[in-house]
Amino acid sequence: MSSGTLWRPLRVFFILLLELLRAAIPVAVNVRDTAVLSCNSTCNQEILWTFFEANSKNLEVLRCLQDNCTEGDGFKGRASLSSENMSLTIHPVLFNDQGWYEASCGSKFSCSVHLEVFVPSAVNASVGDNVTLPCYARTEKRIVDEDVNILWQREEQMVVEVKNGIVHYGSGFEERSSVSLNHYKAGDLSLNISRVTPSDIGLYLCYHKSDKQGHPGAVQLTVKAHKSSYEKKVGDELTLNLFSLDNVKVTFTDSEGVEIPVCGVHRGTSTCDPKYNHRVSIMNDSLVLSELSSSDNGKFTVKDNMDKIISVCTVTVKDVEQRHYLISGVIISVFVVVVIVVIPGLFLLCQCLRKSDQRQIPVYFNARQSELEPLREPANIGLSQEETSQGILEQQEETSQGISEQPDVVHTPVEETSPEIGIITEKQEEAFDGLENE
Ligand SMILES: *[C@@H]1O[C@H](CO)[C@@H](O)[C@H](O)[C@H]1NC(C)=O
Ligand SMILES: *[C@@H]1O[C@H](CO)[C@@H](O)[C@H](O)[C@H]1NC(C)=O
Ligand SMILES: *[C@@H]1O[C@H](CO)[C@@H](O)[C@H](O)[C@H]1NC(C)=O
Ligand SMILES: *[C@@H]1O[C@H](CO)[C@@H](O)[C@H](O)[C@H]1NC(C)=O
Repeated sequence: MSSGTLWRPLRVFFILLLELLRAAIPVAVNVRDTAVLSCNSTCNQEILWTFFEANSKNLEVLRCLQDNCTEGDGFKGRASLSSENMSLTIHPVLFNDQGWYEASCGSKFSCSVHLEVFVPSAVNASVGDNVTLPCYARTEKRIVDEDVNILWQREEQMVVEVKNGIVHYGSGFEERSSVSLNHYKAGDLSLNISRVTPSDIGLYLCYHKSDKQGHPGAVQLTVKAHKSSYEKKVGDELTLNLFSLDNVKVTFTDSEGVEIPVCGVHRGTSTCDPKYNHRVSIMNDSLVLSELSSSDNGKFTVKDNMDKIISVCTVTVKDVEQRHYLISGVIISVFVVVVIVVIPGLFLLCQCLRKSDQRQIPVYFNARQSELEPLREPANIGLSQEETSQGILEQQEETSQGISEQPDVVHTPVEETSPEIGIITEKQEEAFDGLENE
């Protein structure tokens, strides 16, 4: 009898034994990652690692005698043996590397390891979000609750386990994670986690049979810091969510990037920097900072006990008085522009029109007079009704006396309005002088 024919029943026996004892903890890795198949034995004879594919054909992975190793076909350049024990390292892992691996020393069985290879789906969330990690399997539609088995693990740690229909929770996941027995009957083993934190990051594996070998799924969860920004007024208060964490630190970073501690909060009790102590209160799982001032312009950062950033809140504190100054400044400049540019402009326009009118005087004297009155209006801005009508009266009298008197008529209201307009009036005089000379 050759050693090969002896070997097979022996292997089946060991696998059955291991499965019965559920001692064979599978090694679960992402495709393209590194798998370490542990085997804590030493061997002075020939070491052989063998891979059993799904169709039960076996392939040589690595054969070593002392330090002289040969890789089998299908594992060329990817398999190596530990220098201290019989552990096997495979890198990079291929998707079809999944299956049973066995190590033997001489003709003696040493270790058996099951390798699972995943192509994880990715779930991205922000701190405080509720997430669903997807996992599907071909379950029995009419299974009774007592027969349902689900296991969700993260890095070898139990997250949620349904054993014979009874739900157990891993530490840190109580009251915030769930799977549904009804959904299980529809082939949906998805895990819900509410209020995720950065410490929830990791590779989650999903199994659905008692022996842990049932078609596992994998989900890589990443959690980003929560980001927010607020515009506040001086005297307002700021509420920072602490995301139900027992132990957090809050810091403040000013516009120059200098970070200073604000408070540490341990189970609802705060210990704050003297600068902040009198204006901090803890309410409903939030830190409330009151009496905001312009010195609070910057970033408030909440970190967990591992110094991971939970949230970043950017605050802009607006000084209300400054805003008032700004508004009145704008009003004043608009007024100045009106006085310097618009009014003289209207005057010039008025003059031009009048010039063209005056050329027509001999023929259309009456028409000129009636047209002139509405054009005069800009010069009367700011004058009382009395003054205005008086001006017009004077003007009417004087116009009948002759064109040479005309500048004086305009003078009266203009001088009362603004000095700049006086300058125009001088020009006006020149204009009229010119007319006279003609
Ligand atoms: C491996 O075995 C040795 C002795 O047999 C023991 O001292 C050591 O702790 C073991 N290591 C592991 C990781 O089990
Ligand atoms: C085997 O040896 C490696 C070092 O080469 C060590 O890191 C590892 O923990 C050992 N494994 C076991 C199962 O003892
Ligand atoms: C998340 O789930 C919890 C219940 O677990 C619920 O109270 C909360 O409103 C949910 N939050 C969001 C953002 O949906
Ligand atoms: C705190 O929560 C309670 C209910 O949970 C609510 O009535 C109260 O208004 C909250 N207080 C503040 C300051 O938000």
